[in-house]
Amino acid sequence: MGDSYHALYGTAYPMVPLIPCGRERRLFMTPPQGQHGSRLDPWTQSYAQRTAGMTASEIRALFAVASRPEVVSLAGGMPYLSALPMDTVAATVAQMLATQGLTALQYGSGQGDPTLREQILEVMALEGISAHADDIVVTTGSQQALDLVTRIFIDPGDVVLAEAPSYVGALGVFAAYQAEVAHVASDDDGLVPHALEERILGLKAAGKRIKFLYSVPNFHNPAGTTLSVQRRPQIVEICQRHGILVLEDNPYGLLGFDREPYAAMRTLSEEGVVYLGSFSKTFAPGLRVGWALAPHAVREKLVLASESAILCPSAYSQMTVSAYLATCDWKAQIKVYRELYRERRDAMIESLGAMLPQASWTHPDGGFYVWLTLPEGLNAKAMLPRAVTERVAYVPGTAFFADGTGHRNVRLSYCYPDPDRIREGVRRFAGVVQAELELLETFGPYDASAGRPGPSRGVQFPAPDLS
Ligand SMILES: Cc1ncc(COP(=O)(O)O)c(C=O)c1O
Repeated sequence: MGDSYHALYGTAYPMVPLIPCGRERRLFMTPPQGQHGSRLDPWTQSYAQRTAGMTASEIRALFAVASRPEVVSLAGGMPYLSALPMDTVAATVAQMLATQGLTALQYGSGQGDPTLREQILEVMALEGISAHADDIVVTTGSQQALDLVTRIFIDPGDVVLAEAPSYVGALGVFAAYQAEVAHVASDDDGLVPHALEERILGLKAAGKRIKFLYSVPNFHNPAGTTLSVQRRPQIVEICQRHGILVLEDNPYGLLGFDREPYAAMRTLSEEGVVYLGSFSKTFAPGLRVGWALAPHAVREKLVLASESAILCPSAYSQMTVSAYLATCDWKAQIKVYRELYRERRDAMIESLGAMLPQASWTHPDGGFYVWLTLPEGLNAKAMLPRAVTERVAYVPGTAFFADGTGHRNVRLSYCYPDPDRIREGVRRFAGVVQAELELLETFGPYDASAGRPGPSRGVQFPAPDLS
């Protein structure tokens, strides 16, 4: 730690030998006079290498402003919880606590509540999955399941295949475990099978070890697209042939607007697919309840990894979800969400069509997100400060690529604001794009070296509620 430590603090902070106990150590830990509140980090040299992959995005500060009420946020992926029957939920929780409080507030099993695991089978049956409750691990949101799967499969330098673009929260996990992310082209029908095959062959020829394919097949975050029924068996077959596990992440699958859910990839292979589900989008994210359905041997490792991380998922949250599933009409609630989000999707797509002829975008038939491509020459991250000044926020596309591409892309969410706010947000956004186009005409294309933020490499978290 010595040299750079002193470079940081200079002579004002005399070096004290690092003795692992007693007063000397306390002295060493005491910041120098006048440096209270300093943001310099004395532990810079001590962090594990894997923290190099953990970076907060420079746009976080902007989003602090964007959460003001006068800003229309098309950025966040937050479910519209006002649509929940809160009185019913409150009564359900109260009843659960009154009758089972001692269990709900106690430690529970590392694998998760057996009753809830049985109920999860019913939820997954809606997507054609038939499984055994013993192969389910309940997790703290599906985000923890992503972490556990990555933890048990990835050594530094191993490759994870992922759609281009991909969910930023997953990219963050992969970076934290020092995986190399290889993006695979996707189009309006999801992952492109021949692009997947080519990518695998190329990586293998380069001597890379590919561990799994990460895919969000339904109502993709951020792309808004769905993997077609025709492509599902092709993707699973390609992965099987190459000995690559499929990690099927499906938090939005039941939120389709116009049709019944497609059969999950897990229905095509019990041994080759780890399926992740969540109650965050169909019930409430604050409870942090998700799950992994895994082949038996993988499931055992997931439970051990989860126990070492959190001992057990929250019994209180699990029993709340379980009571909700048992006593409330959860399927009717999903229908309420679907209709609400469909109306909001319509408001967004119609106003984009009316106000932004210069751009193109995807047409989601479920979920929360539209993926927009700006006209040539514009940069979504560079444009964001102007957008926030104009009181509209979005997430720039670069957040969803591990390789710094996506600067012409924007993720727009329609899940949270009501239709009038969405229309107003798109109107403001279209004004910003128009103004940027005028700048472009006057000054020529955007120059990344000229001080405004340009494409950056590596995964950057905008903020948890924006992922
Ligand atoms: C694709 C995807 N996977 C996983 C998650 C994590 O969800 P949770 O941990 O709330 O279940 C999200 C959250 O937005 C998501 O969009």
